[in-house]
Amino acid sequence: MSEQTPYSGPQRILSGIQPTGNLHLGNYLGALKKFVDLQSAGWEGLYCVVDLHAITMPYDVPALKDQTRQIAAAMMACGLDPDESTIFVQSSVRAHTELAWIFNCVARMGWLEKMTQFKDKSGKDAERSSVGLFAYPVLQAADILVYKATHVPVGEDQKQHLELSRQVAARFNQQFGVPGFFPEPQPLIEGPGARIMSLKDGTKKMSKSDPAETSRINLIDDEATIAKKIKKAKTDTLGDMPETVEAMEGRPEVANLVGIYAALAGTSNEAVIEEFGGKGFGTFKPALADLAVAHLSPITTEMRRLLDDPAEIDRALAKGAEKANAVAEPIIEDVRKAVGFWQV
Ligand code: TRP
Repeated sequence: MSEQTPYSGPQRILSGIQPTGNLHLGNYLGALKKFVDLQSAGWEGLYCVVDLHAITMPYDVPALKDQTRQIAAAMMACGLDPDESTIFVQSSVRAHTELAWIFNCVARMGWLEKMTQFKDKSGKDAERSSVGLFAYPVLQAADILVYKATHVPVGEDQKQHLELSRQVAARFNQQFGVPGFFPEPQPLIEGPGARIMSLKDGTKKMSKSDPAETSRINLIDDEATIAKKIKKAKTDTLGDMPETVEAMEGRPEVANLVGIYAALAGTSNEAVIEEFGGKGFGTFKPALADLAVAHLSPITTEMRRLLDDPAEIDRALAKGAEKANAVAEPIIEDVRKAVGFWQV
């Protein structure tokens, strides 16, 4: 569905990370590092820890606050600056839930029934899933649109949810006769590091829930662990490093390691192959391990420092909530008017 009157307001970014499980290299290269690059490029960005989303599945109540703080610490440790960007917790901006309710009445059951993530997460027992898990993408649309965000850096797996956000935006604009009110938010996915795969199976995404610890590098792993996991990463029996990018075809594990190297070094796969093509993994893997350690250990150290004295994180989140509220309030006010709510 395309807009007749396009949105013409300011461009801004919003993204969210769930406070569940440990962050790993895939989250770092696919999300956090991208956020920081976008901040450096001068984008206005809002980055939230999505605790409202975290309660759609069974969770540990006393642990939620600490996990929320950990994600905020990771955002800050990677280089998101609470003065330049807005770092906040989703539940501290009430407008998310209000807009989500209104969007629940805009989105159609059929749209949500298509969502593959719900099918995956609910498994065979969809009947016993929370209503919140079903409505999850509607809340995500509210996260984005309550700030009229135009661009959303996310992984491949969130493309379908973004598509739903565009549908909701277009239908809201049309249904309430406010053309161009909400933008149709676009994903920002491209670039090296968009999809980091398991170190044990190059066809599976690196995941928090993989039972094999050796399949992922956690942001809190120490240097020796990082180096060991990379040296033990699966390759294949097709010989040395490929001589061309085309020769990575059919070698998913090798392509993944090359992609990780390129993303960490800020170069392209071509440049990595130029340097390492034809060399043995005995040369490439230690170089990759050194690069990963050099890149991640300052982040780990900074995360630990922040978490040791969380006052700095909590101050940043308080300020972030204030800044986010200031953007969301006038927008939700306009929404209340558009949908005909009583004005007090
Ligand atoms: N669903 C996203 C994920 O699992 C997290 C998320 C929630 C999000 N709200 C968002 C991402 C808004 C981008 C924009 O990764």
